[in-house]
Amino acid sequence: MIKFGVIGTNWITKMFIEAAIATKDYELVKVYSRTMAKGEQFLSSLSMSADGIDVVTTLSDLYTDIDAVYIASPNALHFEQSKAAIAAGVHVIVEKPSTSNPEEFLAIEQALSEHKDVCYFEAARHIHQPNFKIMQQTMGELSLVQGATLVYQKYSSRFDAYLAGKEPNVLTREFSGGALYDLGVYPIYAAIALFGAPQAVQYLPTLLDNGADGRGVANLFYDDFNVTVIFGKNANSYLSSEIYGLKETITTSNIAELETVTYHDGEGNADDIGERIDENPMICEAKDFADVINDPNSNYIKYSQWFQLAKQVNQTLFDLRSSAGIVFPADQKEN
Ligand SMILES: NC(=O)c1ccc[n+]([C@@H]2O[C@H](COP(=O)([O-])OP(=O)(O)OC[C@H]3O[C@@H](n4cnc5c(N)ncnc54)[C@H](OP(=O)(O)O)[C@@H]3O)[C@@H](O)[C@H]2O)c1
Repeated sequence: MIKFGVIGTNWITKMFIEAAIATKDYELVKVYSRTMAKGEQFLSSLSMSADGIDVVTTLSDLYTDIDAVYIASPNALHFEQSKAAIAAGVHVIVEKPSTSNPEEFLAIEQALSEHKDVCYFEAARHIHQPNFKIMQQTMGELSLVQGATLVYQKYSSRFDAYLAGKEPNVLTREFSGGALYDLGVYPIYAAIALFGAPQAVQYLPTLLDNGADGRGVANLFYDDFNVTVIFGKNANSYLSSEIYGLKETITTSNIAELETVTYHDGEGNADDIGERIDENPMICEAKDFADVINDPNSNYIKYSQWFQLAKQVNQTLFDLRSSAGIVFPADQKEN
C-alpha cells in the first residue's frame, strides 16, 4: 500500500483520492491545508472513514511517514512543494503544469538526481486513458500525417468571479495561471505525445485586463505540418479535435475528456473505435503511477518517457507564452 498525503482542498483533490482508493494501491493518511479548520472540513466531506488520517498544516508534518504526495495547489506553488517532497524522500504526483518555467523543471531534475529513489509524475490524466492510446495507435495507420487541430475551451466558473472584479488564482499570472497554463495544457500535452516536440511555436492570446490570457490560439510548427491548438476559459467551444491523414481523419469529441474516438476512412465511413471511459477520469493515471512506485525497475521505460514528455511540455508552454510576451512573477525568482 502506498501511504499518501494530499495538498489542496478543492474538488480535484477529492477526485484524485477517490481514484487512488479505487485502484486499491493507495491509502490516504494525511491531508494538508493552510488551516486546520479547512483541512478537517475537507476530510469530513470525503466519502470514507477519517480513521487513521491526520490533518496537518505544515509541509514538514505532511512529508513525515508518507510514501507519496498528490499536489493540487495553484500552479505557482507546485515547484516549492514538489522540491520539499523530493528532499524528504516522498514520491510526487503533481498537477499539470508541474512547473512555471524550464528553470524550475531543471531544478526538479537536479533534486531528483540527488534522490534517485524518488519518482516524480506530472498528473496529465488524459494521456493515461485507453482512448488516448487508441488514438496514438490509430495514427500509425494514417497514410501521411498532416497535422491536427486540437481544442479545449470551456467557460470557467471562476470567470464569473473575474467579471465581478475578483482575482481567482487560476486567472492570474501571480499563480502561473491563465488559459494556456490551465486548459491549454491538455491539447499541448496531446500534441507533444502524438507528434513530439515542435520545431517552433507561436501563441496568439486574448489577454484579460490583468495580463493573463483568457483564451488563445497556439501554433506548433513541425517539419512537414502544423498543429493548431485552440483553448480558453472565457467561452465555451463545441468543436471536436481532429488529427489529419491524407483522406483519413481521427476525431475525438474532446481532447481532454476523450469520451469518443472516431476513425473516418476518407470514403465517408466513420468507425467508433473508442472505449467507454471510466466515471472517474483519474483512475488510469493513479494506477499507472502506482505501478511505477511499486515496481520501478520493470516500469522504468514508461516512467522516463512520461518524465521526458513532461519536460517537453513545460518547455513548450514556456516558449509559447514567451512568444506572446506573457511573464510570470515565478520567472523572476531564484531557484
Ligand atoms: N486534472 C484535472 O482535471 C484538474 C482539474 C482542476 C484543477 N487541476 C489542477 O489542480 C491544481 C489546483 O487547481 P484549483 O483550481 O483547485 O486551485 P485553487 O482552488 O486555486 O487552489 C487549490 C487549493 O490550494 C490552496 N490554496 C488556494 N489559494 C492558495 C494560496 N494563495 N496559497 C496557498 N495555498 C492556496 C487551497 O487549499 P487550503 O486553503 O486548504 O490550503 C485550495 O483548496 C491546478 O494545478 C490545476 O491545474 C487539475
